[in-house]
Parts: sequence; structure tokens; C-alpha cells
Amino acid sequence: MPVPARGRFITFEGIEGAGKSTQLERLTDRIRGTGQELFVTREPGGTPLGERLRGLLLDPAIGTMAAETELLLIFAARAEHLRACIEPALTRGAWVLCDRFTDASFAYQGAGRRLGADKVAVLEDWLQGDLRPDLVFVFDVPARLGLERAVNRGKRDRMESEDLAFFERARAAYLERAREQPQRYRVIDGSADVEAVAAAVDCVWSEWLARL
Ligand SMILES: Nc1ncnc2c1ncn2[C@@H]1O[C@H](COP(=O)(O)OP(=O)(O)OP(=O)(O)O)[C@@H](O)[C@H]1O
Ligand SMILES: [Mg+2]
Repeated sequence: MPVPARGRFITFEGIEGAGKSTQLERLTDRIRGTGQELFVTREPGGTPLGERLRGLLLDPAIGTMAAETELLLIFAARAEHLRACIEPALTRGAWVLCDRFTDASFAYQGAGRRLGADKVAVLEDWLQGDLRPDLVFVFDVPARLGLERAVNRGKRDRMESEDLAFFERARAAYLERAREQPQRYRVIDGSADVEAVAAAVDCVWSEWLARL
């Protein structure tokens, strides 16, 4: 039997309320039914153990935890997600669409919590080898707008209780990563209305598909 071509790995990034989940759902709806197997997932989470870890990470009742603890719990969930879901899906040729991935660790724990990119990179190299997303959508919004949207949606989770400066550091880290690797990252203005953002996503998607 011929070995299937490796799938593609597409991630959706940005601070709280940037529109990741909204746009992931819209793009998924658009590309479902093309015959391409899709595997749609999220982080932290995506596996039963990972979802339990997500619960801990987002539970406001947990309060503060050491930044190192937070980073390691996220990578524990990620290791599970990679081994149980993402790697097998890519190997069988599926296209994986993931709501947040390791860029979020660089943004939130590396920059937001000020652990530094080096610490995150060590875990990334160890657990992922050379696996990196093929395409990263970065939805960019000012922290104030993103938090307003997130808070309007309901109760604040543990991360959403951080201050604006924390999210501005995370935002700046996303933008810097995108600037450093323009071949894999696409920054989209997330402050426009949902339809305009979806049109920008479609545009990037068509351009990216055409270059495969
Ligand atoms: N472009 C937009 N304009 C206005 N509101 C939006 C836009 N995109 C999403 N929203 C709304 O803002 C809220 C947050 O959007 P969404 O859940 O997609 O963001 P997110 O990036 O996934 O946030 P989180 O990081 O908290 O999961 C939702 O209530 C959504 O309906
Ligand atoms: Mg979301």
C-alpha cells in the first residue's frame, strides 16, 4: 500500500477574544466536504487527559501557580495531544486545524509570564522534534478589545483575569514571531467585523492552497 502524503498542520492564534474559535469554525465549514480528511482540535486539551489539564489551567479557583508549573502542564497536555491525536492524524494524511498551539506558549508563558522564549523552545524541540505548523493564522487585536469580547461572552477564566499589560506582551510576542517567519505566519486584523475577518481568512487560505 502506498504511504499517504503527510497531512498539513494549521493553527489559529491570538490573544483572548481575537476571534480564533469563530474563524476556525467558519473555515472548517467552508473546507468540509472537499474530500480532504480534517481533524479539528484545540489546546490546551484535545484528549481526555488534556481536557482535564485544561480545566485546571483555566479554573479561577486554582488562583496563581508558578509560571513553570503552568508551562509544564500545558506541555504535558500537548505531549498527550501530539502522541495520541496530532501525529497519527498527520501521518494518515489528515489536515489538522488546531485552536492554539505552541505559539500560544511563547506568547503567554514566554512573554506574558516572562519565562523567556528559550524555556519554551527547549520543550518545543524536545516534544515536537521538527514538527511545526505549516500555516499559523495570527488574529491581531488590541488587548482591551479582545478582553472586552471575551468578558462579554461570560465568566472570566483564570487566564482572562490577567491585566492588559500581560495580554499586550502576548500580542507583541505573536507579532514578533510572525515577523520573523513570514513564510509560515499570516497576521490578520481581528478588530474588523466577523465577515471582514472571514474574508481575509479566505483570501489567505486561497493564496496558501495555491502555493502547495
Ligand atoms: N470580528 C469580530 N467582531 C466582533 N465580535 C467578534 C468577532 N470575532 C469574534 N467575536 C465575538 O467575540 C467573542 C470571542 O470570539 P472567539 O471566541 O472567536 O475568540 P477566541 O479568540 O477564540 O477567544 P478565546 O481565546 O477566549 O477562546 C465571541 O463572543 C465572538 O462571537
Ligand atoms: Mg476560543
